[in-house]
Amino acid sequence: MYQLWINPNEKKSKIRKEIYGHFSEHLGRCIYEGIFVGEDSSIPNEKGMRRDVVEALKELEIPVLRWPGGCFADEYHWKDGIGEKSQRKRMVNTNWGGVVEDNSFGTHEFMELCSQLGAQPYINGNVGSGTVQEMSEWVEYMTFDGVSPMAQMREANGRKEPWKVKYFGVGNESWGCGGSMRPEYYADEYRRYQTFCRNYGDNKLYRIACGPSEGDYHWMEVLMKNAAPLMDGISLHYYTVPDTWQKKGPATGFDEETWYRTLKKTLYMEELLTKHGAIMDRYDPEKRVGLIVDEWGTWFDVEEGTNPGFLYQQNTMRDALVAGINLNLFNKHSDRVHMANIAQLVNVLQSVILTEGEQMIKTPTYYVFRMFKKHMEAQLLHSHLQTETVGAGEWQVPHVTESASMDEKGAVTITLNNLSAQEACQVEVHLTDREVKRVEGEILSSCYTDYNTFEHPDQVKSCPYTDYEIRDGRLILNLPASSVLCVTVTA
Ligand code: AHR
Repeated sequence: MYQLWINPNEKKSKIRKEIYGHFSEHLGRCIYEGIFVGEDSSIPNEKGMRRDVVEALKELEIPVLRWPGGCFADEYHWKDGIGEKSQRKRMVNTNWGGVVEDNSFGTHEFMELCSQLGAQPYINGNVGSGTVQEMSEWVEYMTFDGVSPMAQMREANGRKEPWKVKYFGVGNESWGCGGSMRPEYYADEYRRYQTFCRNYGDNKLYRIACGPSEGDYHWMEVLMKNAAPLMDGISLHYYTVPDTWQKKGPATGFDEETWYRTLKKTLYMEELLTKHGAIMDRYDPEKRVGLIVDEWGTWFDVEEGTNPGFLYQQNTMRDALVAGINLNLFNKHSDRVHMANIAQLVNVLQSVILTEGEQMIKTPTYYVFRMFKKHMEAQLLHSHLQTETVGAGEWQVPHVTESASMDEKGAVTITLNNLSAQEACQVEVHLTDREVKRVEGEILSSCYTDYNTFEHPDQVKSCPYTDYEIRDGRLILNLPASSVLCVTVTA
C-alpha cells in the first residue's frame, strides 16, 4: 500500500482557475462544425453556436478560452472578421489544410461564445504578418469605452458596450509558424507591439509574450532578460507525441509499451516547468510573470480518411491519464503556472468534445476536466506520495501521481492518477493533525485503450466513487489500473 501525506496546515500557492483553460483555433472542424454552425443550421444553435456543445462545455466551467490561434493567429487580420457576414473577406487557411476561411466567425462571434460559456476571452494577436497599428486597433475596437474610431466601428457592427479583455497574446510561436524569428529579434518586436496595446478605461490587459517551444531554454533566457518588466506572462508549448514528429503513432489501438512511452513523455512537462521556472526566477524572483502553458496535450497521427491538415484524433484513457498527470503538475507548480490551455477544445488534437454532423460525444479527457475543476481557485497543499514505478526499461513511470488542495470551506480535494495499464493499487492518505470524516468522490476507470465512439458514446465515463475505507481517521483508497480519481475529504 502506498502512503500519501498531505499537510492541510501547509498551504502553498493559489491554483488559479485559468490553469483549467482551453484553446480554440480556426483549424479543421474546431470552430466551424464543432462549435459554430451558423444560425441557419438544422443543428440546434443559439446565435450560431451548437447548443449541445455549449451545454456540455458549461459543465466544465471553462475559465478562459484562447483564440484565434495557434499558427492561424499570425495570419489572421481581425478586420476581415467583422461587419456584414456576406461582405467579409475570404482567405486561405494556409497552415491548416489550405481551406477557404470565410471569416463568418470573428471577434463578435468569439465574444458571444465566451459569454455563452461564461469564459474569459484570451485573444492572440498577429505579430508575424500583422502590423502594430492593426494590433493596437484591435485592442481599441474591443475595449475602448467612449467615442473613438474603433469604438464607433464596433457600435456600427452592433455592439455599443466594450468587452472586457484581460488576456492578450503578442504573437504565437514567433520562433516558428509565427515568423521564424530569433529570440533577440522577437524580444524587441514584443517590446514594440505591446507598447501600443493600451489599457482603456478600467480594462487592464495581461500581456503575454511568445515563449519557448519545449526545452528551448535560450529563448526563455533572452525573453526574460530583455522584456520581463514589460510582460505579465510568457507562453510555453509542449505536446506529448508518443514517438517522433514524423511518425507519431495512432490515437487508438496502441500497445502497452506505447502507453508507458506516452506517459513518460508527458511527464517531461515536470522538467520543463522546473527548468523554465528556474530561469524565470532569476529575472523575476517575486514570480509576478506567469508561465502560460497555452498549448499542451497529445498529438497523434490523424484518423484514417480525414484531412491531414485538420488534426482530428480520437481520445482514449491514455489521453485521460495525460490530462490528469499534467493538471496535477500545473497545480503543483501553480506558484509560477498562471494559466494553461489544452489543445484544442473540439475535434482537434486532445479535445474534450468530438462531433460528427449533429452527433456529439464527450471524450475521456472531458471527464478529467470535470473532476479536476474542484481545484480551481483552491489553495495548493503540501503533499508527499511514496510510490513505486511501473512500466519497463526506459519507460518507467511512477505508479501513482497526485495533487491536493483546500477550498475556502476547508474541504480537501485530492486527485490521483494510476499510471499502470494493468495493476490496481491502494493508497493510504494521512492528513496531518486531522482525521478523515467524510469522503465524496468520482472516478474515471476503464481498460487503458478504451474510448467513446458515436456508436458507443458512454463506453468511458466517470461515476461516483465508493471503493474506499476510513480506518482510524486515515483514508484508504483503492485505485484500479488506468484510472483517474478525484476525492473530496472533510476532516
Ligand atoms: O495546436 C496546433 C498548432 O500547434 C498550433 O496552431 C500551433 O501554435 C502549434 O504548433
